[in-house]
Amino acid sequence: MNGNGRPALELRSLSKSFKEKKTGRTLEVLSGLDIEVRPGRLTCIVGPSGCGKTTLLRVMGGLEAPTSGEVFLGGKPVRGPGPDRGMVFQEYALFPWRTVLRNVTFGLALKGIPAREARERAEVYLGTVGLSGCEDLYPRELSGGMKQRVAIARTLAVEPSVLLMDEPFASLDAQTRNGMQEFLVDLWMRTGTTIVFVTHSVDEAVFLGQDIIGLSRRPARIVERLENTLGYPRTRTDPEFTGLRARILEYLVKEMAMERKI
Ligand SMILES: Nc1ncnc2c1ncn2[C@@H]1O[C@H](COP(=O)(O)OP(=O)(O)OP(=O)(O)O)[C@@H](O)[C@H]1O
Ligand SMILES: [Mg+2]
Repeated sequence: MNGNGRPALELRSLSKSFKEKKTGRTLEVLSGLDIEVRPGRLTCIVGPSGCGKTTLLRVMGGLEAPTSGEVFLGGKPVRGPGPDRGMVFQEYALFPWRTVLRNVTFGLALKGIPAREARERAEVYLGTVGLSGCEDLYPRELSGGMKQRVAIARTLAVEPSVLLMDEPFASLDAQTRNGMQEFLVDLWMRTGTTIVFVTHSVDEAVFLGQDIIGLSRRPARIVERLENTLGYPRTRTDPEFTGLRARILEYLVKEMAMERKI
């Protein structure tokens, strides 16, 4: 799979700190990150709980400004959110009072796309995520996996250059989660969208990622960078799969052991 003219997302020497409201102390969350997300690829970012993964994705999305360093999309500095970067979060964030179709058309209406075209486009993307025929249902009538597919369709419908996903399957049961991972690989192969997928599950990162970036505990630094050349669909019992998983787990366990000593 190649980039087909899609823009790369780059972070250069990126750091982010927050000021703690109560104490006034500075909390360093991201420290000097250099990342190049290659267009058309599925990149997974894995790191221990609380290390700064969501913050990193929010900075990539332009929802948080970096304290220092820069984010570039297609060589242009990112200064805020934009329709070229779509985000999918852990919680589905669907409007319960809107039908599936109207949840997907919502973002398109905001973009000023006429109602008829928005409807047609929403139907196409609901088809892409396997939900044709569910247009008139309400979120309460859907399973967790279906809700997350509506959220993905809603983000894809805006046709972003990069899809940023923050542990989107974390709240699903194990079986649905595995199904959604297979679904995502298939969707990515069909659309070729650049995907950045954040997770604390090593298994998920090895199942999905072509490029895997491992973060340290907070403040997050890059401690692993590897390419996963295993073909798709991947088999969890494959010795190469288990080998890669063991290698990443080893670094994560070290990171967590260091945390316990502090
Ligand atoms: N807006 C904010 N203001 C102050 N501190 C923040 C803010 N956002 C995040 N933090 C702090 O930054 C640190 C990293 O948080 P973040 O949510 O990015 O981690 P994470 O790796 O996504 O965690 P998890 O694994 O629980 O999802 C935490 O200590 C958190 O309290
Ligand atoms: Mg998070």
